[in-house]
Amino acid sequence: MSAVLDLAPLLRAAVPPWQVAPIAGAALGAVAQGIDARQPLHAAQVRAIRHALQRHRIVLLRGQQLDDAQYLRLASYFGSVFQPPADVPVLASDPYGGGNLPAIVKVGNVEDGVLGHHELAAHSDHHWTPQPSSGSFLYALQVPSVGGETTWVDEVAAYEALDGATRATIDGLQLITYNPFLRRLHPLPSGERPLYRTPDIAPLAPFEVHPLVRTHPDTGQRLLYLDAATEVEIVGLGAAEGRALIERLRAHLAQPRFAYTHRWQVGDIVYWDNQATLHARTGFAPDEQRLLKRISLSGSRPF
Ligand code: SIN
Repeated sequence: MSAVLDLAPLLRAAVPPWQVAPIAGAALGAVAQGIDARQPLHAAQVRAIRHALQRHRIVLLRGQQLDDAQYLRLASYFGSVFQPPADVPVLASDPYGGGNLPAIVKVGNVEDGVLGHHELAAHSDHHWTPQPSSGSFLYALQVPSVGGETTWVDEVAAYEALDGATRATIDGLQLITYNPFLRRLHPLPSGERPLYRTPDIAPLAPFEVHPLVRTHPDTGQRLLYLDAATEVEIVGLGAAEGRALIERLRAHLAQPRFAYTHRWQVGDIVYWDNQATLHARTGFAPDEQRLLKRISLSGSRPF
């Protein structure tokens, strides 16, 4: 009788040690160590990253060297690639509609990158679409020596830190977040980018109505679903009252206690929960080069 080969120890030895742990001292964020994303992920690694995303909102993988196919495979463990409706332009889609959105968007001031070198106000990706992205990845290929940091804001922590009276006021409110790419196509005569739509400004269409306080589809947590500077309007409130409330909530969200700022290194990948965070970016000098590749995952209608 031939000897039965016990493969279990060999298989165990084939997975180098890895772990996913919170970023020490940070308000949010976890770091995955020992995972080589060029290889297919193991079930336990996928589960650990998913779990960390729910608890810590963003997951950082350092020292990666992926080609586009490997990067897309990594993202595909967590969902399918986001595509907007045909009539809704988003970053890197056709300017007059949502068509031709590449699966990997080059964010940078080099090659055919988008978003240049300027600062970006805190936002969640594709907030103005019917089914905003559930999460996004950024993979750093070139980073400037100064600036270009990305900050994530925990919208759950921000909501939970509100006083009870404010939560009661905002809990049932509906918000329109107007599409900034449409505003670029239809600028106001003044050139102003309004933070709140007032009755003298014609509404941009198409637009979507989403809750101002959203329920996370996986954790059930409530969160303050509001960008820092995108044009918005609260449905059913007078302009003065709505604008004052939004200004107050935006000031609340801007507190550093809800934020983690990431200083990029080449090879970093950050995967974030777009259903529970905002992200912002500091500017950097135009003569420095920054290039990150972004993949956004499809999401569901907020409720
Ligand atoms: C983005 O908003 O998708 C880009 C963020 C960044 O460049 O850090």
